[in-house]
Amino acid sequence: MPSLCVVGMQWGDEGKGKLIDCLAAEADVVVRYQGGSNAGHTVVVDGQKTVLHLVPSGILHDGCLCVIGNGVVVDPEGILEEIAGLTARGVTVGDNLLISDRAQVVMPYHKVLDAASEDAKGEAKLGTTLRGIGPCYVDKVSRVGIRMVDLVKPAALEARLRRNVEAANRILQGVYGREPLDPAPMLEQYLAYGDRLRPHVADTITYLHRALADGRKMLFEGAQGALLDIDFGTYPYLTSSNASACGVPAGTGVPPSQINAVLGVVKAYTTRVGEGPFPTEMHGEAGEAMRKAGNEYGATTGRPRRCGWLDAVALRYALAVSGVTGVAITKLDVLDSQPTLRICTRYRHDGQMHQAFPSDLDVLEHCEPQYEEMPGWLSQTSEAEHIAELPAAARAYLDRIGELLGVPIQIVSVGHDRSQTIFATTTGLFR
Ligand code: GDP
Ligand code: IMO
Ligand code: MG
Repeated sequence: MPSLCVVGMQWGDEGKGKLIDCLAAEADVVVRYQGGSNAGHTVVVDGQKTVLHLVPSGILHDGCLCVIGNGVVVDPEGILEEIAGLTARGVTVGDNLLISDRAQVVMPYHKVLDAASEDAKGEAKLGTTLRGIGPCYVDKVSRVGIRMVDLVKPAALEARLRRNVEAANRILQGVYGREPLDPAPMLEQYLAYGDRLRPHVADTITYLHRALADGRKMLFEGAQGALLDIDFGTYPYLTSSNASACGVPAGTGVPPSQINAVLGVVKAYTTRVGEGPFPTEMHGEAGEAMRKAGNEYGATTGRPRRCGWLDAVALRYALAVSGVTGVAITKLDVLDSQPTLRICTRYRHDGQMHQAFPSDLDVLEHCEPQYEEMPGWLSQTSEAEHIAELPAAARAYLDRIGELLGVPIQIVSVGHDRSQTIFATTTGLFR
């Protein structure tokens, strides 16, 4: 029962989509386990770019079953658009895409509440993707959410939608002073979405257990990253789901004992979209240059991503929490023109050194990162096909990262295309 979880180790956008697409060539099933259309996973094949938000990144491989697990929040409108876009480009999306009947549905009032809550916070806003993610998970935890099983059952949808719109309107009008929403056209629209999505809705838990029993190779696709995880991230500046590998069992129904290997995806530097502490952030021209070199603009919202140096304090914590068995270093090529590289190994705050990642936002916001410096390689890496073809300084940088993190580097990515991927090991990825 070989399985592998691919999960971001920073604040998202580490290049998970690219790696899932590469690894899906040898997988039978790819499963998303949390998050929603806040994710933007980019896959580039022969120069052609596909950005996936809800559809798992194995969809470009024939014969790969793509599953949206029960832990995901599904925006029916968004996923139908995504399916239409893929189909228009000749990608088959039919019975190779299953959506858990237990997954929660993102409704229009979730998006309106997301925006209203952000506006009301003013300066203290989180910088969400405005995809309704937080409010949808709030409804799930409050036990009033609408699940996919309800979306495809008209009577259940009508009852829940009317009750929830009424409740949302009380908050929209009473708390935020906004216009109420009209449930009637919403119901009509969502009944139609339910009809269109019905063929994909399934008891995915039974499917996944059968696939495991049949010895199928299973990939779990993380969205966001460990530092955005609701329990382990930089609270409250994070998303509303368990984005670390800890989310897999709860978000798929596959038990922890079946998750055999965890590939932590680490960008060779750090980025973050939205608000929140970022100790190694580069400000001014240096940050701008990194953003340009890495083309760091959000795949979902187009917002410029904040850029900074690699942070081994945050990474050691993220790796530990997810039980990472190997790492993939991505976007190494983006550092090609840096004369000197920096890696943060400790934080200093109030005269104290921190080697463990602090929970206190004050410390994260005001600490002084302590850096090690290494020489850059000042040459192109994007055509390397083997680790040995990388410049010596690039290999030294990777070796140092491996040492600091204490796990093997299994993959190095040197460009956005599927082909620009170096496998440092061909064994031990799936276990
Ligand atoms: P994800 O959310 O983790 O899937 O990452 P995104 O797709 O949001 O962002 C990663 C971006 O970097 C995308 O534009 C990818 O095409 C691109 N990318 C991925 N790996 C590499 C790489 O090794 N080098 C370069 N230059 N770009 C990469
Ligand atoms: P992928 O899967 C980067 C960030 C948002 C915001 C915070 C909360 O592409 O790596 P939300 O809409 O989830 O309530 O926003 O989380 N965020 C991401 N940042 N990559 C993502 O996904 C993200 N999904 C959410 O910018 O700071
Ligand atoms: Mg992304």
